[in-house]
Amino acid sequence: MIALFVVCLTGLSFVHPFGNPRVEPRKGLNTLLQGANIPAGAKSVLVTKCADCHSNETRWPVYARLAPGSWLIERDIVEARKKMNLSLWDQIPPDQQVALFGQMIHEAKRGDMPPLQYRLLHWDSRLTSTDVASLSMMETSSHQEASLSGSGDPIRGQSVFEKRCTGCHATGEGHEGPPLAGVFGRKAAGVTGFGYSAGLKNSGIMWDETTLEKWLKDPDILVPDNKMDFHVPSAQERSDLIAYFKRQKGQN
Ligand code: HEC
Ligand code: HEC
Repeated sequence: MIALFVVCLTGLSFVHPFGNPRVEPRKGLNTLLQGANIPAGAKSVLVTKCADCHSNETRWPVYARLAPGSWLIERDIVEARKKMNLSLWDQIPPDQQVALFGQMIHEAKRGDMPPLQYRLLHWDSRLTSTDVASLSMMETSSHQEASLSGSGDPIRGQSVFEKRCTGCHATGEGHEGPPLAGVFGRKAAGVTGFGYSAGLKNSGIMWDETTLEKWLKDPDILVPDNKMDFHVPSAQERSDLIAYFKRQKGQN
């Protein structure tokens, strides 16, 4: 009876209700992320912990031969490859690659990837804090040049600041955020007496064009577990703000 049952399930596993991800040709793990300009540490995390679903280099476990489990695994892989296939990296347009780096970091920080069902079967696949830090080193801003090339306007920056930031960053005590006068060129978490997050305190960051650009674009990417619940999506506004901070310091 049991044998018959297993034969049936094996037979069913030749049916692929969610698509058959086994047909893609494999070319070897070293063909993943071709042309991606990322640190070796980040690449190794992606290859070891993400490639089973997010590439054509899936290492199929034996139990993936039995339906209906096989269907669930296949569905995950089909969906994962649709979102991001590391085997086809060189075919992804550059701005989308940058967006994917951002998403990967985001998922990694939230602990959503790899998904729970996978972590249960591959207990060593959980991302360590070192893994998350390695992934965070991936470049997530293709517009960084905008602020570096000095296209920011300090006057516009001041008005953005007054509209968006003073709610938390007004001068004087008792606000949610620290006072920002003179922040350019200052060490992060440099206002004595303000209750900064441990993340920002230990970051060792110096506020300049590059770090401010990253912070304003997505604080969570620059400093995991910071407590500024705000970001500035517009590249132009970010450069304007940075120009404003620079001018306060008399640097332009
Ligand atoms: C068990 C298979 C599996 C593994 C392993 C896996 N993922 Fe995923 N991933 C998925 C699936 C399924 C989706 C699509 C559904 C979803 O968004 O939850 C997805 C979606 C994503 C997305 C797109 C999210 C979005 O909102 O569009 C990103 C980015 C991502 N994964 C990153 C990673 C990273 C980084 C790793 C390794 C640390 C990883 N994944 C490991 C299955 C996996
Ligand atoms: C919802 C409240 C809030 C808003 C709005 C906000 N911030 Fe912040 N900001 C914070 C908090 C809280 C911190 C401290 C973060 C920490 O300790 O992790 C912070 C920290 C900072 C720092 C680091 C300061 C230091 O001393 O190291 C900078 C720079 C900064 N914010 C810039 C801005 C700018 C520019 C804007 C407007 C575009 C803005 N923030 C809007 C809450 C806010």
